[in-house]
Amino acid sequence: MLYLWIKALHIIFVVTWFAAIFYLPRLFVYHAQTEDAPGNERFKVMERKLYRGIMNPSAVLTVAFGIWLLWLNPVWLTQGWLHLKLALVVALIGYHLWCGRLLRAFARDENEYGHRWYRWFNELPVIVLVAAVILVEVKPF
Ligand code: HEM
Repeated sequence: MLYLWIKALHIIFVVTWFAAIFYLPRLFVYHAQTEDAPGNERFKVMERKLYRGIMNPSAVLTVAFGIWLLWLNPVWLTQGWLHLKLALVVALIGYHLWCGRLLRAFARDENEYGHRWYRWFNELPVIVLVAAVILVEVKPF
């Protein structure tokens, strides 16, 4: 019973983490096309609030509830699907931190990339989402 409550919370924070991880690079796409000063400043505020207010707490809570699930049922630690999923989580955290670096470059008006680059960058977490959900639901190995 406790396990199922923790799993529900884990999934809720996975959803909010991904909402932010898809939206922030989308803001970068439009920010990279912005030429007026008020628009530039508005994007900086939106990006900072999204990153600090939603993305960071969601990441911490997803990982915390995931670890709690493993603590309640350590048998998952012996299974291959979990090892691969954890590798994907490490990649996702790397992507998250990369977003933070890009955000700070925008904040200093030192962005180096164009909107097309951000459109491709925006697609990377799709791979993690598809692979991780298949791994936890199908548990193929
Ligand atoms: C350190 C981070 C994480 C750990 C330790 C972790 C661990 C776990 C564990 C042990 C379960 C329970 C599996 C079961 O009861 O069958 C689970 C479920 C789940 N995890 Fe994670 N997870 C982490 C991050 C993520 C991420 C980033 C995603 C996003 C793709 C994710 C998506 C899910 C989903 C959708 C389920 C529900 C599976 C079901 O329907 O039973 N997890 N996670």
